[in-house]
Amino acid sequence: MPFAKSLLRIWLPLILASYFVSMVSGEFSNQPADRGYHFLTEKAYLPPDFDEQTFNATWQVWPEPLRSRAAEATPSERRRMAFERYGLTFRPDDDSGKPLQYVVDQQGQWTMNCFACHGGQVLGDTYPGLPNNRFALETLTEDIRKTKLQLGKPLSRMDVGSLFMPLGKTNGTTNAVMFGVALMAYRDADLNVHPNRLPPKMVHHDMDAPPWWHFQRKEYIYIDGFAPKDARPLMQFMLVEQNGPEKFRQWESDYQDVFEYISSIKPPKYPFEIDAALAQKGLKIFEANCAECHGTYGENADYPGKMVSLDSVQTDPVRLSALSEQHRAGYQASWFGRFGEKEVITNPTGYVAPPLDGIWASAPYLHNGSVPTLWHLLHPSERPAVWKRTEAEYDQIRIGLPIESWDRLPAEVTDAAVKRTYFDTGRFGMQASGHDYPNQLDEQEKRAVLEYLKTL
Ligand code: HEC
Ligand code: HEC
Repeated sequence: MPFAKSLLRIWLPLILASYFVSMVSGEFSNQPADRGYHFLTEKAYLPPDFDEQTFNATWQVWPEPLRSRAAEATPSERRRMAFERYGLTFRPDDDSGKPLQYVVDQQGQWTMNCFACHGGQVLGDTYPGLPNNRFALETLTEDIRKTKLQLGKPLSRMDVGSLFMPLGKTNGTTNAVMFGVALMAYRDADLNVHPNRLPPKMVHHDMDAPPWWHFQRKEYIYIDGFAPKDARPLMQFMLVEQNGPEKFRQWESDYQDVFEYISSIKPPKYPFEIDAALAQKGLKIFEANCAECHGTYGENADYPGKMVSLDSVQTDPVRLSALSEQHRAGYQASWFGRFGEKEVITNPTGYVAPPLDGIWASAPYLHNGSVPTLWHLLHPSERPAVWKRTEAEYDQIRIGLPIESWDRLPAEVTDAAVKRTYFDTGRFGMQASGHDYPNQLDEQEKRAVLEYLKTL
């Protein structure tokens, strides 16, 4: 075949095909949202947490019988076991073997990214933007610290910091809000670092991250709705000492792309059958009882972003009081609040009713992740005091996490890592009380609303 012909017949289609593949995978794409995802998964904005060698050796500090099982496993099985222990997932449509939740660079250095808390799994599929309800930050950090000591490697900021600051008492929830407070305490309004300031007063408590597909619906973010939506708040995660004020200015344009990316995320659809007639009944009940706070869905979707006073909603109060008026005012006066230009709600009175798009996928519920299923949300008096998810993938009857439950933490549970697999609503900031609004519905009405919620 003459060269020109072979070029047309064989090479050109191949080149075009590979070009399209890379477009789809986002590699050469120049869309801001695609660039945003690329930044989050490939660019490290913090000093690395640990290296590949350390991660691959963590099994050596696991408790028995896990350690023996890992010793006999192949390296790829062992990696899968480690991902499972720490709540990490592989990236969707990507066979690099890298976790969604960490940037892994060419030197094999791992750096945590936003997906550690904001990228999780439901029904075995990984969705960037879905809260990571398995993330075991405290257990991972403990194991990494022990492994580094065994290997004679230096400890990182996170390894040392976690000795003084709780990271998360239950897998799937983190003390993220206090990380922000701790980091901001050493900055002035321009974000210059003042390492010698006194440590701030802290109210440690855990939260369940919200799904990122709510972002496009909101004007103000966070459960108490204090911060106006903007690219800058997305950068608070990077306030470690090594990142001076110039880094924030330099990286702001990356985070405009991240902003576009987060705004583009859509929730996954409920994959099982829905009883359409029952859901239609549920819609009517929802409109009469819930829409005033949670808005409407479908064609004429409307989201009011309604702040509900703590007196009314009566869910756990700790998150609201953990941030003071002073914190929020400091935020407003700083680079994050564009030096007072943005209107910040410095004195919120409660929590903002979130949108419920994709609600079937984002269990557990309430801002602290204390309620395992939508059925339990609709039955306030039936919520378990202590619960633990089972091996099963999903609860299609109650919609959410399949669980076992107890009146109190079983006495035999003493190992710290095992304890974190239990959600204990008796702990500070972890109450599952409140949001009693469904009590005005009878059992049949609740059944219909539950069916309707699957359609969102
Ligand atoms: C350690 C866990 C963790 C990490 C890492 C993390 N977040 Fe979050 N994020 C949270 C939690 C928890 C909240 C809820 C805070 C609240 O409402 O008070 C939150 C809230 C948000 C919100 C507000 C959403 C809404 O609907 O109100 C956005 C946006 C967000 N995070 C973006 C990011 C970005 C971008 C990064 C990475 C640069 C990041 N987060 C890293 C835990 C985390
Ligand atoms: C008066 C306002 C109000 C009414 C009425 C109301 N809610 Fe809520 N709802 C809230 C607030 C506020 C929250 C957040 C509470 C928290 O996280 O502490 C919430 C949380 C939820 C959540 C959990 C969301 C998540 O992502 O964790 C669901 C589900 C929910 N409501 C469903 C309903 C349903 C169904 C009804 C009607 C039967 C209803 N709500 C009525 C204010 C309301």
